[in-house]
Amino acid sequence: MRTTLKCSMLQRALGLSGLLACAASIAFAQIKPIPQIAKKGDKFTFMVDGKPFIMLGGQVGNFSAFPDLMERAWPTFKAMNLNTVEYPIYWNVIEPVEGKYDFTGFDQILHGVRAQGLRAMILWFGTWKNGAMDWSPNWVKADPKRFPRVLDAGGRPIRVLSPHSRTTLEADKRAYTAMMKHLREIDEAERTVIMSQVQNEPGSLGSVRDFSPESNKLFSGPAPAKLVAALKKHPGTWKEAFGREADEAFNAYYISSYINEVAQAGKQVYPLPTLVNVWNGGYGTNDNWERFDRPGETYPSGGAVAHMLDLWKANSPAIDVIAPDIYHQSPITYLKILNSYHRQDNPSMVIETGRGIAGRAFFYAIADFAAIGFGPFGVDGGGPDLRPDMAAVGADFRLFKSTIPVIAELQGTPRLKAAVEETGVGARNLIFGNYDALVRFRPPGRQPAGTMGPAAAAAVSEPAARVMIAELGPDEFLVMGFESSVEWRPVQGSDFTAAQFVSVEEGVFENGVWKRTVLGRTSQGDFAGPTVSLPAQGALMRVKLMRY
Ligand code: DGJ
Repeated sequence: MRTTLKCSMLQRALGLSGLLACAASIAFAQIKPIPQIAKKGDKFTFMVDGKPFIMLGGQVGNFSAFPDLMERAWPTFKAMNLNTVEYPIYWNVIEPVEGKYDFTGFDQILHGVRAQGLRAMILWFGTWKNGAMDWSPNWVKADPKRFPRVLDAGGRPIRVLSPHSRTTLEADKRAYTAMMKHLREIDEAERTVIMSQVQNEPGSLGSVRDFSPESNKLFSGPAPAKLVAALKKHPGTWKEAFGREADEAFNAYYISSYINEVAQAGKQVYPLPTLVNVWNGGYGTNDNWERFDRPGETYPSGGAVAHMLDLWKANSPAIDVIAPDIYHQSPITYLKILNSYHRQDNPSMVIETGRGIAGRAFFYAIADFAAIGFGPFGVDGGGPDLRPDMAAVGADFRLFKSTIPVIAELQGTPRLKAAVEETGVGARNLIFGNYDALVRFRPPGRQPAGTMGPAAAAAVSEPAARVMIAELGPDEFLVMGFESSVEWRPVQGSDFTAAQFVSVEEGVFENGVWKRTVLGRTSQGDFAGPTVSLPAQGALMRVKLMRY
């Protein structure tokens, strides 16, 4: 560790010769490579310790990132099978007095996470937290002259800091870079922290934009030429270029510029990958249907919502990942949002999610949208007994964890697919190179033995079956999932009559090598095709087949 400190100091003090000295000491100290997001063709891979990584995350509650509370949650993180904990860094806690930083709690939590063998995704609760300013320090809140607030259309100040203030931006940037510098000093050798989320659900809730005189002046001027060109809009005022979305796009431009500058400054001291998360809204991505779906009303205006994503991608190159928070329970909305953020210029990741759909959504996100990470919110909320939604994700992570190197390789190819039960969907046929795999979900409406009544009916009506299948080779599959069966047949149009098993093994990967644990449940014979059953508690199987 001391070698690491010396290295970063040398680097800064001595330039090139310092760099050489640094390289030598890195070799000596065996510093792990810095986490990064690599891109090959259209595919993104999250590299941690130089190897492909998929974040099995869990985000703690908003008020939980204090050493004693985190300590209490270690058993829960273990029960969840996490490999990464997502937790806030509060601006008001690390800089309670302007210019005086206190990293005591920060260090304690980081050492604790590391001692648990976990990685961390830190969440900077700075200027923005859920479209408001709640976690900025009191010295910021108390001085609206220096740190102006957004004024709504009626000229009233609201609970949001203005993105147009250079003073506020400099103050946030100073605190964020001080934190990143400190992080580098204590974590460069270990790389416990693998990514940094810059702000939380940025945007303004309570007004579509700032209506202060300075902001109004900017708004009535031309939209920036570079932005207009990047988005292929007609040059002109914001209204002329962006029409009905002008106020929102204006706010998104200034907020993304602000956050990009903070992220860029942080990367200059410690270049970890960065992320911005999104409170969704607009165009059918909000389920607050009893109100008109408007920016600044039903969701924060200026965040990287799906219809502002082109703008954010063009204007915030220092942000590596823009990730949705998805709390919607409708699979239609869930998949629509996953689809919007799965783009050639954006790695896909679900940074916050929850409730009944979460256990199924993990399968969609990993297999169909090549997600590099997935994190349910409020993971520390249920005590040692996991809530049912957390238990479902924890079970997913249990099955999935050892397969990360294999699955990360196959993501984004037709060799990885998921079949997920939804209301009215009893089975799905997945098509691979040589075989079709028919996934049948538990019989719908099945009552648990000995129970009757509406509660039991509701319990069984929530879809839960889910399967992921990876084609390891022409006749070989990895299968994981719950409450389903999978049957294989030669792919439609082939000259083969039928398929049969060569072997079926239940097992786990150990350091990338398959280890059989128990013989899988198979039904080979008689008149049925080769079929495996995946029980309610889940199973991970490796299946070899042949065709005749
Ligand atoms: C989304 C926010 O990003 C989180 O910090 C938290 O407030 C959750 N909503 C609560 O549901």
